[in-house]
Amino acid sequence: MPATIIDGKALARQIREEIRRDTEIFLREHGRPPGLAVILVGDDPASKIYVRNKARACNEVGFFSRQEHLPESTSQKDLIDLVEFFNRDNLIDGILVQHPMPKHIDEATIFRTVDSRKDVDGFHPLNVGNLCIGQECLVSCTPMGIIEMLRRYEIPLLGKRAVVVGRSNIVGKPMIQLLLREHATVTVCHSRTVDLPGECRNADVLIVAIGKPEFVRADSIKPGATVIDVGTNFIKRNGKNVQVGDVAFEEAKEIASAISPSPGGVGPMTITMLLSNTLQAARWHVK
Ligand code: GUN
Repeated sequence: MPATIIDGKALARQIREEIRRDTEIFLREHGRPPGLAVILVGDDPASKIYVRNKARACNEVGFFSRQEHLPESTSQKDLIDLVEFFNRDNLIDGILVQHPMPKHIDEATIFRTVDSRKDVDGFHPLNVGNLCIGQECLVSCTPMGIIEMLRRYEIPLLGKRAVVVGRSNIVGKPMIQLLLREHATVTVCHSRTVDLPGECRNADVLIVAIGKPEFVRADSIKPGATVIDVGTNFIKRNGKNVQVGDVAFEEAKEIASAISPSPGGVGPMTITMLLSNTLQAARWHVK
């Protein structure tokens, strides 16, 4: 039987409507909407699209948003000054500095400069540490979106074998912590894993975030598993530019019991979790 398609777009629409209603209440109670500042340094074409989509999503739910587009040549000091300006700005509850930044800027320093209570990316070491020890914190949006997707599709994690392919700071590492929090048995695989297909075939829930187009094939999937594809890759097919995930979707959907496509799966959920984090940060800010 072909798999259930996990529709991230529809889920995101539903959650954004919930956030829009909560935003109206916030506005009535506090006389201002939640506010998000998004900073982009340089002209990376994909980042420009992501940043525009983030600002659009903010407007849709009624947030205040500010976009700062700085030239590639911006110095680290000027970027730090701008982040510190938003740290002090009472109309701004969340700050996001788009990754990747130009090579002369040390990203870790920038992420540490963002006030941890406004760190809607969940990248500040305080938030990363609090996630590891199970304390209240802001959590990286992509893994949070995946957990929310699994929860709303009632896919169980307790006692299940979850395999995460990829160990990035943005997705893989926080994903491990969130799966542990849900009582899954977690394995993490990466480029040096000896038998990647074999490890993947153990997974009840397989989460793939490696940035390699259609890398995970049907023979790496246990029949009946849930597959979450985090990849966003652009390839040329039949002379056309097409977007594909890290999983070979057409063959995987014949083996899995549920699968999130790319596009239309994790992507819309990520931006939705950014809105959710911003609302959370705003509630803390007014307290
Ligand atoms: N670039 C790709 N994904 C992300 C993200 O989640 N946050 C930021 N700041 N930059 C990104």
